[in-house]
Amino acid sequence: MDLLQKITELKKQKNAVILAHYYQVPEIQEVADYVGDSLGLSQKAAETNAEMIVFAGVHFMAETAKILNPDKKVLLPDLLAGCSLADSCPPDAFRTLVEAHPDHMVITYVNCSAEVKALSDIICTSSNAEKIVNSVPKDVPIIFAPDKNLGKHIQKKTGRKMLLWDGACIVHEAFSMDKLLKLYKEHPGSKIIAHPESESHILETATYIGSTAGMIDYVKMHPAEKFIVATEAGILHKMQQEVPQAILIPAPAEEDNTCACSECAFMKMNTLQKLYNCLLNETPQIEVSEEIRKKAILPIERMLELSK
Ligand code: 13P
Ligand code: SF4
Repeated sequence: MDLLQKITELKKQKNAVILAHYYQVPEIQEVADYVGDSLGLSQKAAETNAEMIVFAGVHFMAETAKILNPDKKVLLPDLLAGCSLADSCPPDAFRTLVEAHPDHMVITYVNCSAEVKALSDIICTSSNAEKIVNSVPKDVPIIFAPDKNLGKHIQKKTGRKMLLWDGACIVHEAFSMDKLLKLYKEHPGSKIIAHPESESHILETATYIGSTAGMIDYVKMHPAEKFIVATEAGILHKMQQEVPQAILIPAPAEEDNTCACSECAFMKMNTLQKLYNCLLNETPQIEVSEEIRKKAILPIERMLELSK
């Protein structure tokens, strides 16, 4: 039996579900029961009947699944699969900001730790951030954390002034404007599509801005066109599968940057072998203290309710 068959077999035996993000390597996306964006993955984690969840993504995603499923085993193939954006918001510093602004509603992007979620009023993802911000009465001031680029984008869309945390994703801040414009000139008529974690100058060039699932849906609506795709390159696998006729070109990153290929090193820590090992040995498992979990689940549930 090859690794793929062994994983499929074990998954059945253990009544496990494999949830994978679009940035995972193609072979993991192929063996997963569901591949999606952060919102879709949270929704699947909230409704699954499986006894065990194997999360092929990064730590904050698996942690969100554990917060929603305290009695299930939630496994992450590599515990070191973190997130630069989540790391840019340490809980103690965030608590200081929140406590200094008791009249503010705290909206936090799902890319953060359980401790930061526990300090928040509502969680959002890139696909529902606009709706969540608009759900807050106009006279209530908002703290938005940790992604300043998504925050700036939502400020522009909603006209709401928000207090922004100064966090960012290393992958989405690595795109080179000069190279992007050069590439665009080489492919006249192509459409630039971008993830809102990208910087404002990149977003200004885009004909569509949205979550990973939103970007795939947009390409599906324009199947015969050429796209320059400004997000993590792992998305190209599912996008090309969904729209085989489309020409997809990854947006270029700065050469001297560690993310020159616009790949997320954290997402790519998961491999098929590690996924098999974790399913077999039921480790590494995600744990969240009950004290934090009870607080962190409230803003996640508010988001899921507002996203129905
Ligand atoms: P979405 O898939 O929700 O758009 O998020 C992208 C991302 O950076 C996940 O880490
Ligand atoms: Fe975090 Fe960026 Fe990687 Fe997403 S792509 S997991 S935001 S570092």
